[in-house]
Amino acid sequence: MNLSEKIQTRQAKIAVIGLGYVGLPLAVACSEAGFSVVGIDVNAKKVARINRGESVVQDIPDAQLAAVVADNRLQAFADYAHIPDVDVVIICVPTPLNKSGDPDVSYILAVGEVLRDNLKPDVLVVLESTTFPGTTEDLLAPMLEESGLKVGEDLFVAFSPERIDPGNARYHLQNVPKVVGGITPMCQSLAVAFYQTIIERVVPVSSPMAAEMTKLLENTFRSVNIALVNEMAIMCDKLGLNIWEIVDAAATKPYGYMKFVPGPGVGGHCIPVDPHYLSWKLKQVNYNARFIQLAGEINAEMPIYVVDKVVDALNADRKAVNGARILMLGVAYKPDIDDVRESPALDVLRLLELRGAELYYNDPFVPSLKMNGTLMTSLPLTPDVISSMDCVVVITAHSTYDWTSIAAAAKVIVDTRNAVTDTGASARIFRL
Ligand SMILES: NC(=O)c1ccc[n+]([C@@H]2O[C@H](COP(=O)([O-])OP(=O)(O)OC[C@H]3O[C@@H](n4cnc5c(N)ncnc54)[C@H](O)[C@@H]3O)[C@@H](O)[C@H]2O)c1
Repeated sequence: MNLSEKIQTRQAKIAVIGLGYVGLPLAVACSEAGFSVVGIDVNAKKVARINRGESVVQDIPDAQLAAVVADNRLQAFADYAHIPDVDVVIICVPTPLNKSGDPDVSYILAVGEVLRDNLKPDVLVVLESTTFPGTTEDLLAPMLEESGLKVGEDLFVAFSPERIDPGNARYHLQNVPKVVGGITPMCQSLAVAFYQTIIERVVPVSSPMAAEMTKLLENTFRSVNIALVNEMAIMCDKLGLNIWEIVDAAATKPYGYMKFVPGPGVGGHCIPVDPHYLSWKLKQVNYNARFIQLAGEINAEMPIYVVDKVVDALNADRKAVNGARILMLGVAYKPDIDDVRESPALDVLRLLELRGAELYYNDPFVPSLKMNGTLMTSLPLTPDVISSMDCVVVITAHSTYDWTSIAAAAKVIVDTRNAVTDTGASARIFRL
């Protein structure tokens, strides 16, 4: 049976490498589609939890994971022993920035080395990790070909960007169109056929590089538009205008405008990181990606702007930041999720700590938080706790927050999300 037939009949054995926010939902989806799946992660604790049916990502409930684990359709491993048996490999490892702000593709390269030494012929390898244009064709494929397999003949390689939006109840893996670019027509058709078994709409593009660039356009678009509206918020402040009124009014235009809202900065594994992959690549061809740089600067400076607002709020009460009791509401990078990676809350906390503030936080999704080696724990959100604070700073508007009772108990609120809209509240509110 050839690879195409194995995919069509669900007899292809799948390996998902990297079982995080991207890889675990994908592994579960493949298992539910009828494939036998091995999940591979270097984190042995994570592997043990998955094999006990305990989910490691919020979007996959324990019961959903436990069902595919109990059926032996998904098994997790902390080693690569099963790679020589698999027909399809999907790589979902991290692609962070290194200390100097350049792309760190070492996780992809580490996986590439293992695959090079272990793949069998007639195998499809798809990279899903967000990366700079050219990674799949110029870096990964040549490494895999060192095995003696030949791309387009007995090794099929493609890139398909992951678009998962953790915490999004409406759009999930299956109903978000999947862009796929294969190196050769055969790589393309096998990758498309594979994704069609788990995703409603697959969008083929001409090459892996086009697929890589598509993802970077999407995330750069978000970074630039968030930066634009963040700068608009600063401009409105200087002109004595309310940005939230203006954003809502502009959003009534039925065409040619897409609503973005300002905030305390950008967070997560994607928006603060991915555009730098693109600007780094452009530097190699002597081009300075100006929009990316400017957007990155504006978004990175928003926490400083928030701290200035806190200073203003305390100042109005004749208080200094030094020694002030400040409660941060929400430390996850966006509402209703537990992910604090690159969250602007961390920058705001660090900046306030440097100025001597006494810091506390509440986040129903993040019970504890490591800050400069110290473990902070989420405070219960009682009226007594709130009223004991000199200032409450709203960073993440989780849907579980009761803004009316928060505003009733607080003295002063710095609201970076326009969350506290109850004008009858006794607290004084400083908005972004
Ligand atoms: N999180 C998102 O919302 C999102 C959305 C779209 C794209 N992406 C991209 O997807 C990729 C993965 O992101 P994520 O959020 O799932 O990361 P994650 O950190 O949640 O998961 C990555 C997993 O890979 C494992 N890992 C690292 N090196 C490994 C190796 N050599 N072999 C096996 N496992 C290894 C880690 O232990 C971790 O469990 C990144 O490129 C990211 O930019 C993420």
